[in-house]
Amino acid sequence: MRLPTHRHRAGACLLDPAQACQPNETYFHFLSKAGLQIYGNEKAVGRAIAKSGLPRESILVTSKVGRTKHGYDRARASCLQSLKGLGLEYIDLMLVHWPGAKTGWPLRRGELSPADWTPAMREETWRALEDLRAEGKLRNIGVSNYARHHLEQLLRSCRIKPMVNQVELHPLHAQTDLVEFCRSAGVLVQAFASLGGGDGAGYSPLLTHPVVKSLAASLAKAPAQILLKWAVMKGLHVIPKSRSAARMKENLEIGDFILTEVQMSLLDALDMGRRLT
Ligand SMILES: NC(=O)c1ccc[n+]([C@@H]2O[C@H](COP(=O)([O-])OP(=O)(O)OC[C@H]3O[C@@H](n4cnc5c(N)ncnc54)[C@H](OP(=O)(O)O)[C@@H]3O)[C@@H](O)[C@H]2O)c1
Repeated sequence: MRLPTHRHRAGACLLDPAQACQPNETYFHFLSKAGLQIYGNEKAVGRAIAKSGLPRESILVTSKVGRTKHGYDRARASCLQSLKGLGLEYIDLMLVHWPGAKTGWPLRRGELSPADWTPAMREETWRALEDLRAEGKLRNIGVSNYARHHLEQLLRSCRIKPMVNQVELHPLHAQTDLVEFCRSAGVLVQAFASLGGGDGAGYSPLLTHPVVKSLAASLAKAPAQILLKWAVMKGLHVIPKSRSAARMKENLEIGDFILTEVQMSLLDALDMGRRLT
């Protein structure tokens, strides 16, 4: 399990691990995720890592190549910029954020970024990541928001298989076919929005779902713990996000119970292909 800093900006959150928790606490060692150019937090994450004094190998840093950066040269430059921003020699996991180019606001209708985008460009983007991995600058490489057909395209042309596919996945959107495909292809599925996504405004259709709440009450656990346990028992990698050290701790404390087959199937039955993000 990772504790991400996604959308956490310098000064607005627990980016400084020294503020978040004590260095000898387990969750401290996993407080690292997504120093991401588009969220503008790479420098702050880099500073926090340096300040922590922790051995580099005890921290896992993930970043992403944004969808405006598709293409060999752009993707390579984006990764090198991430390394520079973080002040690190290598990044543990670099993901291609989206299979497609950027559309929509602030672009005009019909406009794409990059403007020269073609679906074949995905292969060039990937080649840039493969080369940087060979150079030792990226330890692991993967993708995000890739559907089965995107993965099939990549698997046909790649030298190195994507190690991870990070996708929205929770009981309301279980993506069973994609999970099965990834499993058979040897790609680890990393679930985001396990708790419903968003910025903790207090309402999440998952955390407040009657089935989740009733399981939580019957097991004397928090709704978030039920959702994370469901995902972990399905063999998924989870990356719940919180600005609260107490909730980070709660999210890590799911090792002392299991969900029965019946309890798992109650959650499985909620799947309606509903995206929340
Ligand atoms: N690849 C993509 O396109 C993509 C898209 C979105 C997210 N992500 C990744 O997914 C990671 C997780 O973020 P997410 O957006 O998916 O959100 P999430 O983990 O589903 O969490 C949503 C909100 O739940 C609240 N929360 C956390 N623990 C809780 C608990 N124990 N009880 C009650 N509320 C709790 C948090 O608010 P508080 O801060 O107030 O605790 C958090 O803002 C991100 O860091 C990012 O790396 C990836």
